[in-house]
Amino acid sequence: MLTIVVLAAGMGKRMRSDLPKVLHPIAGKPMLGHVLDNAASLRPDRVVLVTGHGGRQVQEACTDRARLHFAVQEPQLGTGHAVQQAEPLFLPDGITLVLYGDVPLVQPTTLQRLIDAAGGGLAVLTLELDDPSGYGRIVRDADGRIQRIVEHKDADAATLAVREVNTGILAAPTAALRRWLGQLDNRNAQGEYYLTDVIAMAVAEGVPVASASPEAAWETLGVNSRVQQAELERVYQGEQARRLLEAGVTLADPGRFDLRGELHCGRDVFIDVGCVFEGHVTLGDGVAVGPYAVLRNTSVAAGATVLAYSHLDGAEVGAAAQVGPYARLRAGTRLGARSRIGNFVEMKNTVLGEDSKANHLAYVGDAVVGARVNLGAGTITCNYDGVNKHQTVIEDDVFVGSDTQLVAPVRVGRGATLGAGTTLTKDAPADALTLSRAAQKTVAGWQRPQKTKPKP
Ligand code: UD1
Ligand code: CA
Repeated sequence: MLTIVVLAAGMGKRMRSDLPKVLHPIAGKPMLGHVLDNAASLRPDRVVLVTGHGGRQVQEACTDRARLHFAVQEPQLGTGHAVQQAEPLFLPDGITLVLYGDVPLVQPTTLQRLIDAAGGGLAVLTLELDDPSGYGRIVRDADGRIQRIVEHKDADAATLAVREVNTGILAAPTAALRRWLGQLDNRNAQGEYYLTDVIAMAVAEGVPVASASPEAAWETLGVNSRVQQAELERVYQGEQARRLLEAGVTLADPGRFDLRGELHCGRDVFIDVGCVFEGHVTLGDGVAVGPYAVLRNTSVAAGATVLAYSHLDGAEVGAAAQVGPYARLRAGTRLGARSRIGNFVEMKNTVLGEDSKANHLAYVGDAVVGARVNLGAGTITCNYDGVNKHQTVIEDDVFVGSDTQLVAPVRVGRGATLGAGTTLTKDAPADALTLSRAAQKTVAGWQRPQKTKPKP
């Protein structure tokens, strides 16, 4: 049985924030969310979250609250004290893994290796650092066996020279950990109950103590300040960029790429600088995304192009379609194959048929538009009467002249033409020209007003 304890009671003073530290995001997701997701991938039998500062807010932010157990640590008297609060919620046997809520990027593979290293005993995740200051030091005997962990503030000169440090993450046999927790004291430089004291207790009882190391050092970086948060964000984005490059995606600059969610790419996808991808985004084979585009919960089919500064949220772009520059596609927009959306066009809850176009300056909302339709510059669906939304239907092969307002609900029949400047308030019949326009007139003999002469 695997119990995972996540420590998240610390207040994170150095963030200088009203938001509890573990709720600050990396790649758009709270740090704690990363930890809980990675924990969940180990298929634990129980996850206990220890909260303290901002505890209610932290608990409410957990998306799968129902599957978590909560312990409250108030006041915060050290990492050992924190785990003591979780102890009544431990499963009766098996292994317990302790994670930190502010160490968001530790990989499941690393955690599994730690658990494997523990076997039936204890294992700590350690790391060699050039500058180990601040960390607990791993003290080994002449044969290299771990003896204990000494906190920086309690260490003598010889111990301070040790470069192997405690990342804080450990795995221990649950029943023994229970016993050791009961024996902790706070007779140390910080007057805290140190979780790390359990290592010496295990050694004293003859329980084997092993170690494992993360594949990459960044996995165990913690966040105590906005600077460290920003650094870890770059590390994470760099990793995502590297994975995409390795999968065959071209990134114009891996240093100017942000993914806050999941991005699935086909072959030969090109992504220009400054793009942001959020939620679940899919780009088909040969898709090109221009600079500074934002794509959120969107799929773009093969061969389509999204040009600079376009904003797509909840959209589906058909094969070989072209969007932008400066287009905005909102939720429920579905563009057919080879369709074209040009600059300053906004679409919402609209299905646009194959080979249809809206090339400039338009608002199309709550509409069903057929194939081979041309929506001229300045086309507006007046979908909202101030209370309710209404639908506009434009059938295949319609030509909508520039500066046309379609006052919904309204339908334009197949092959119809709407003259420029029309305000359409009734359905337009198929294959006919419909227009609403005041008759043009020319006033004979009219003269421009003259500037009145100033009085002398
Ligand atoms: C701890 C380790 C140290 C290790 C370092 C790695 C101990 C005694 N020391 O030190 O060996 O090198 O982490 O970063 O364990 N927390 C609580 N309640 C508390 C205290 C802490 O929940 O009362 C949580 C914090 O929110 C944080 C984690 O435990 O997520 C670590 O706390 P922190 O104060 O950073 O530990 P360190 O003293 O740096
Ligand atoms: Ca710390």
